[in-house]
Amino acid sequence: MSNPQKADMGVLKRLKIRCISETGWFDTGEVFGDIRDAGGAEVDQYAIPWPPFGDLHADNAAGFSALLEAEEIGGAVRRLLFDTGWNPAWMDRRFAEEGIDRMLQAGEIEALVISHEHFDHFWGIGSTLKHCPGITVYVPEGFQQAGFDLIRQQGHTGEVITIAADRPHVLFHGLALVNFPMNTLLKVGGENVLYAHLQDRGIAMVTGCGHGGVLNLLEYARQNFVGGERIHALYGGLHIAPLDDWDEAKNRIIDGLKGYEVAKLACNHCTGRTAVEKMLELGLPVQRGTARNGSKTELFLGNGDMLELG
Ligand SMILES: [Fe+2]
Ligand SMILES: [Fe+2]
Repeated sequence: MSNPQKADMGVLKRLKIRCISETGWFDTGEVFGDIRDAGGAEVDQYAIPWPPFGDLHADNAAGFSALLEAEEIGGAVRRLLFDTGWNPAWMDRRFAEEGIDRMLQAGEIEALVISHEHFDHFWGIGSTLKHCPGITVYVPEGFQQAGFDLIRQQGHTGEVITIAADRPHVLFHGLALVNFPMNTLLKVGGENVLYAHLQDRGIAMVTGCGHGGVLNLLEYARQNFVGGERIHALYGGLHIAPLDDWDEAKNRIIDGLKGYEVAKLACNHCTGRTAVEKMLELGLPVQRGTARNGSKTELFLGNGDMLELG
């Protein structure tokens, strides 16, 4: 019996996630060197002249973006773009290689969900809007005015919907967004996490970076959603050790993750290689990638790789 206090988002038959780009950038030392030179972690990201605002180390800039294809119980397929990367040149290339440009032009992608305002997830929005200026855009509460200005400057003509903090917003049957308030690097606040309820499987959680802490975000699903007693899958950036520094607290996160008994664990981007190696040591079901299209390791899902759920 389900707990009547829990939110019932409905169920989906299947969810397919295609990684368009998980390479936020190519060289971590260079991107953090730029941040240090700009004044450090507390500086406003919009003060750094990276693409599209300038050409500082443009060759190092890439981005994070994924295509979600949700199949409803009745068979209809609904597509969402989850984040839109960073460097317009890189995102244009990846969108062309994966056919995202044509899907946008044909109106086959109904919305762009921005997980959070970080440059590597959001500043490439021009690459989406040039193909579909009227697309509905979801952002988390906490977005800066400079972020809303960027959306408009890049030619957006559609609706921008701000997801309020701490309560589920059901996009359609079986799929919900929750905005977790947080304050992190470069004056960014609020992160939208996506949860899908898959028929007979449980909850799948999709994150951009997971700045709220992967265990907190999983526990939210367990406590608050019908179906949350089973977490079927995880996809995205888990921000455990993006700089590959390691300590006991991080070991505890990996141990905690094991406790959820997730069936498929598809992490990438800012999770960190060391974190993934530790997961593998503990026998967690890490989905391996093919290290193509700019992704450098087979340890986790990379650019052009797919996760099929349901
Ligand atoms: Fe990240
Ligand atoms: Fe981030």
